[in-house]
Amino acid sequence: MKRTLGVCYYPEHWPDETWAEDAARMAETGITWVRIGEFAWSRLEPSPGDLRFDWLDRAIETLGAAGLRVVLGTPTATPPRWMIDKHPDMLPVDGQGRVRGFGSRRHYDFSHAGYREESRRITRLLAERYGKNPHVAAWQTDNEYDCHDTTLSFSEAARRGFQDWLAQTYQSPDALNRAWGNVFWSMEYDDFSQIGLPNLTVTEANPAHWLAFRRYSSDMVVLFNKVQVDEIRKHSTAPILHNYMGRVTSFDHWKVGADLDIAAWDSYPIGFLSDRIENDAGRKLDFLRQGDPDNQAFHHDLYRAVGRGRWWVMEQQPGPVNWAPWNPAPLPGMARLWAWEAFAHGAECVSYFRWRQAPFAQEQMHAGLLRPDSAPAPALAEATQVARELAAMPEVEPGRAQVALVFDYESAWAWEVQPQGADFDAWRLAFAAYRACRRAGLNVDILPPDCADLSAYKLVLAPGLMRLSDPLRAALAAFKGIALIGPRTGTKTAELSIPVPLGPGLPDCDVTVALAESLPPGAKVKLSDGGRFLHWFEHLEGSATVHMSTKDGRPAIMGNDSLRYIAGWPDDDTFDHIIGYHCDVLDIPTCVLPDGLRVRDTATHRFVFNYAAKAQMWNGTRIPPAGVHWEPLA
Ligand code: GAL
Repeated sequence: MKRTLGVCYYPEHWPDETWAEDAARMAETGITWVRIGEFAWSRLEPSPGDLRFDWLDRAIETLGAAGLRVVLGTPTATPPRWMIDKHPDMLPVDGQGRVRGFGSRRHYDFSHAGYREESRRITRLLAERYGKNPHVAAWQTDNEYDCHDTTLSFSEAARRGFQDWLAQTYQSPDALNRAWGNVFWSMEYDDFSQIGLPNLTVTEANPAHWLAFRRYSSDMVVLFNKVQVDEIRKHSTAPILHNYMGRVTSFDHWKVGADLDIAAWDSYPIGFLSDRIENDAGRKLDFLRQGDPDNQAFHHDLYRAVGRGRWWVMEQQPGPVNWAPWNPAPLPGMARLWAWEAFAHGAECVSYFRWRQAPFAQEQMHAGLLRPDSAPAPALAEATQVARELAAMPEVEPGRAQVALVFDYESAWAWEVQPQGADFDAWRLAFAAYRACRRAGLNVDILPPDCADLSAYKLVLAPGLMRLSDPLRAALAAFKGIALIGPRTGTKTAELSIPVPLGPGLPDCDVTVALAESLPPGAKVKLSDGGRFLHWFEHLEGSATVHMSTKDGRPAIMGNDSLRYIAGWPDDDTFDHIIGYHCDVLDIPTCVLPDGLRVRDTATHRFVFNYAAKAQMWNGTRIPPAGVHWEPLA
């Protein structure tokens, strides 16, 4: 497949007269796709029922006439001000019970049925008008579900919706009481209408109550998205995508993704490094202008799976952003490197955010491909170069992986509800395992928690899954490679209580988690071979083989030939050792990479990316800082 570039554009921000020139410059840059419309509701419907599509007709026509293909966004992340007068109770409520007001974006509650209908209505109107438009070649639903922490809302609408959801899920208050263990602290209910939201209780609410609310809230996102998808599909055969975020686990992306044709995500490597990745201060400085060398790849692989093979980067950082605590400029070359890395992981399109920097409002300090005065910003030349290289490059097809990592959103909720140790975070643990694979130069596939077939892989990692689904358990029973399971996997029931018999319940493998302890920063459990566990350690019992021990003689890895339980959270060196050892056993080739150099194999090429701020050598080739190198696979 030929890979393409795109850009995010806001015709409503600029005088009509500039559109044609902008479109011509986009085409000249080598851009194929342009995403528009996703925040334009106040211009599409300035007052209730007063529809103004004429400007959007002209914008689409102008862009299309320049040869661009349009991704049309539904504008539901930004309901206009009049909507709040019409539905005053649609505003979301935070965990402290405060209403989150109008004046920015995402001021809606996923549980609000009235707003869901408004969202259906505007989507239907757009789909009816543009569903057959030859220039509208893809659709985006809403924008970044959960952005600004908006999955959870503690509103009256949420309370009522949650009660209905509970009634459907549990059928009777008795069944719910039993499932949650409400006899504890006399928390029993006689009627679903008595059940409140789990915030604002005196001390922590029952973890099962929280987990149910997290499941309900995720289902509301799935429903909100599905309503739009159904409307669009009635009028259009173009693919539908949503632009997910980095390190967002508050709703089940596997489920939203099942209703869409393509998964997209918004990649802001430098913003993320500053804002949401645990790295020590020195490492953050080393990668200040490049971003974490594994974070983008992790999300590329995750969303490739969420999109069942079809995925895009819908927003690619082009220069400094405005929203992180600090906002350095990328090293020259990074806007090119990030794009090529996405293509090497199989992205169909990489779309820069945004075309021109807006001189007004919240994101005025956020760079674009053009400056506010329309002069080229540094990333424009890099995008042009990528477009030229794409045109010259033979088709890029994603490579195969021998290693897979299972990733589960529900477990992320479970461990947020009940961390037990302040550092325990499901995403962080999965990412730690993923990074170790990347340091060994491995291609990794990410799999959903109900994955029923592991036969394509030699090594499977399943860290931190609260429970093993039936399909996954069956796949593990049939698995011929090695699965590294744990820590903390299979140690809870679906209701977030402790299973009896105790977990992890591995098929034909006698390992039991007898006790779990969490460790504060600085504390460690030493392993007999010099390795270490941090954050978390489980005391294992059973008759299975001990493959690795702690210094004081407890099992650290225990299991049989195929299924092995890891009793703690390995530090980076220990993860490297564990992955390296098992790859050797399984005959999976690894490589030794200098820090900051990363590789990814496509079907035909090995790509090498230098995230370091200095030049590095790869097989005799010097790769400059922010350099990208590719060579045919041997
Ligand atoms: C994304 C969002 C965009 C824009 C961008 C700025 O999270 O989807 O609308 O705000 O961040 O980096």
